[in-house]
Formats: sequence, C-alpha cells, structure tokens
Amino acid sequence: MKALILAGGFGTRLRPLSCTRPKILFPIVNKPLLQWTFERLAKNKIEEAILAVNLQTELFIKQHRIPKCGLHITYSRDPLKKPLGTAGPVKKAEKLIGHNAPFLVLNGDIFADINYRKISKAHKEKDAVATIALHRVEDPSRYGVAELAGENRIKSFVEKPSPETSSTDLINAGVYVLSPAIFKYIPKGQEVSLEHEIFPKLVKEGKLYGYVFDGLWTDIGEIEDYLTINKILLKHFVKQHKHKTGRGIRVREPVAFDTGVSIGEKSIIGPYTILGQDVTIGKNVRIQNSVIFARTIISDFSSINGAIIGESAVIGKKTRIEGGSVLGDHVKIKDNVSLTKGVIICPAKEVTESVLTSKIII
Ligand code: GDD
Ligand code: MG
Repeated sequence: MKALILAGGFGTRLRPLSCTRPKILFPIVNKPLLQWTFERLAKNKIEEAILAVNLQTELFIKQHRIPKCGLHITYSRDPLKKPLGTAGPVKKAEKLIGHNAPFLVLNGDIFADINYRKISKAHKEKDAVATIALHRVEDPSRYGVAELAGENRIKSFVEKPSPETSSTDLINAGVYVLSPAIFKYIPKGQEVSLEHEIFPKLVKEGKLYGYVFDGLWTDIGEIEDYLTINKILLKHFVKQHKHKTGRGIRVREPVAFDTGVSIGEKSIIGPYTILGQDVTIGKNVRIQNSVIFARTIISDFSSINGAIIGESAVIGKKTRIEGGSVLGDHVKIKDNVSLTKGVIICPAKEVTESVLTSKIII
C-alpha cells in the first residue's frame, strides 16, 4: 500500500516557529513530526510514501535528512506559486500512486496514533470511494465534521461548521483511504479541496465512509496543541532514562534531553521539559513546562516556565520567560529581561527590555 502525505502549507497559527520551518518538521519530543509519521507507516508495513510538497517544503525536508525507516520516498511538487489544495495533489500524483489498489492520504500536520491496516480493511469491506478516520473531540468547530448513518456511511460532511450548526463531535482526523476511483472526481492541474468539494459530492453518492478510532490524536495547528502533544507523549509514551545528576543539578521527570545537552550546577530542569540537541543550560537555571529547540543557550540564574524557545536562541543571565511566550529561532534576550504573559518574538530579534504584557515583537 502507498501513502500520500499532504505537506504543503506553512501554518500561520504557529508563528513565529513556523516562519523558519514547515509544520511537518516541528520537533515533537525532539523528533520531527514527519519522522513520527514515517515510523508509523513503516510499522504498518506501508512501503512507499509520496510527499505532496511545495518547493520550499521539499528543500526543508531534504535538508533535515530524516531517517527513511525503510520507506521508499518520492516527492510530488505543486506547481510554483500555485498550491493545489488538499485534493489537487492527489490528482497530481495519480501516476505515482497507480490504479491497482486503495491508498492512504495523510494530512502531514497531525499526530495520529492510528492503525492504518485496520482503516484500510474497513475501507475494503464497503463499496467506498473514500473512508475517513474520525475522532471525537470536545470542540469540533476547528475541523471538518461528519455525521454517520448506518454501517458507518457518512451522511453529511461539513468543513469547519459554525458551533451552532454542528450536531456531532466526530471530526475528520486527516487520515483517509481512497480508492483509485477518486481520480475521476478531481480535475487536473487545479486547486481543489477534498473537504469542500470532493467529500460532499461522495456523500451525495453514498460512497463516503467513516472509521472511528480513539487513539491519541492532535492537530498541531496552534501553539497550545503543540505543547499539549509534547506533554502527553512525555508523560505516557517516552521512556524516562536515568539522568546523571550531581553538582546540585535536579531533574524532575518527565523530561527529554537530546544528545549533547549540557546543564550547569544547581539548575533544576522539569517537569515537562524538552531540551533539543546541544542545548546549553547555565548555572542556577530553572526550566519547567517548556520546549527548548536545538542549540539554544540559556544563561545563569534564568527561569523559564510555559514557554517555547526556537533554535539557536541566546538567552541572557537572570532572565524570566513565562506565560506561554514563544521565541523564534536565533532570538537574543539580554540579561535581566523579563517576558511574561504570552510574548511572541519573531526570529532573529534582539530584546533588550522587559515586556510584561501580551505583545508581538516583529
Ligand atoms: N501539497 C499541498 N498543497 N498540501 C497542502 C495544501 C496545498 O495547497 N494545502 C494544505 N495542504 C496540506 C497541509 O500541509 C496539511 O498537512 C493538510 O494539507 C491539511 O491542510 P490544513 O491547512 O492544515 O487544514 P486544516 O488543519 O485547517 O483542516 C484539515 O485538517 C483537519 C484535521 O487536522 C481538514 O482536513 C479538516 O477537515 C480536518 O478536520
Ligand atoms: Mg492542519
């Protein structure tokens, strides 16, 4: 079975971190989201993955050298300056996918602990052109929602309904099995949306089915979701190793440290803290509920709580960063600066004075 991964689009709600990397390369517990997806595909005996990308994303992915996990990887690129939406890339990859068997389509920006073999089995048991993985959530208004009739046939599909109109909590989890019959529904070379154009048509013809699953699922569309998935994985799925302490260093689990991390004396790290590759922590630093990307330096006597700090940032001494603040790559924070209440700082900015109200520094 082949899988097409939709990986165009940069994710504006994840700024400033998405200014410098596509969503599928966000590190989730120190591993790019795309690598988690590759691993899950390989585990489900999928042999080939086609990445539906734009040029920029393709370059980023290649630069990252993600382990292929034994998968055969090909790229199918949207035309320059002409994104094809969510259905257009399926049509574009028609030759690569072929007409022999049903195939998987995955939204690249979700973390879904789903058994691909079970959903394809469910698909094959019906006369379906498409089967959508459905997941129950509390607030369905940010997603596509489906209403099920008998035998798991979908009787309505609405993309991002207003909260009043939605009568179901079953949402489109962004994982589909499609039969080759889908190709004739999608016009060639155009921007086409599966959710707005194709699924409603299939509903009318009775060819759209659902497959409800309960596993772990998150869309990393917003900063809050990003922190949550990291926390859940840390707590339930990431093995806690024995950390070398001493010199007054205290590690409060759960935490994850990538290779090359160094921690100065008397620092207290955790709980819920992720330190990326080669992160350097000074002395008497306190970090909790935070994600620190690779190569960032955090200097002595600083305290960080509930923040995300991008790559290669340099945080001065005696700083305080908290309240859901998010700092882009290469940001510099001078000594003694406090950032509280959700301060957003764009990549490569230098901050020399404290910011105590929610604010975006461009
Ligand atoms: N190649 C390519 N070209 N990929 C694209 C394009 C494009 O023009 N536009 C979007 N994508 C990719 C995105 O990178 C993402 O992985 C996926 O298609 C879905 O697009 P989003 O922009 O992230 O959509 P969404 O999050 O608002 O909604 C979708 O996902 C929800 C679940 O997370 C919909 O499928 C909803 O129905 C669904 O509930
Ligand atoms: Mg999305």
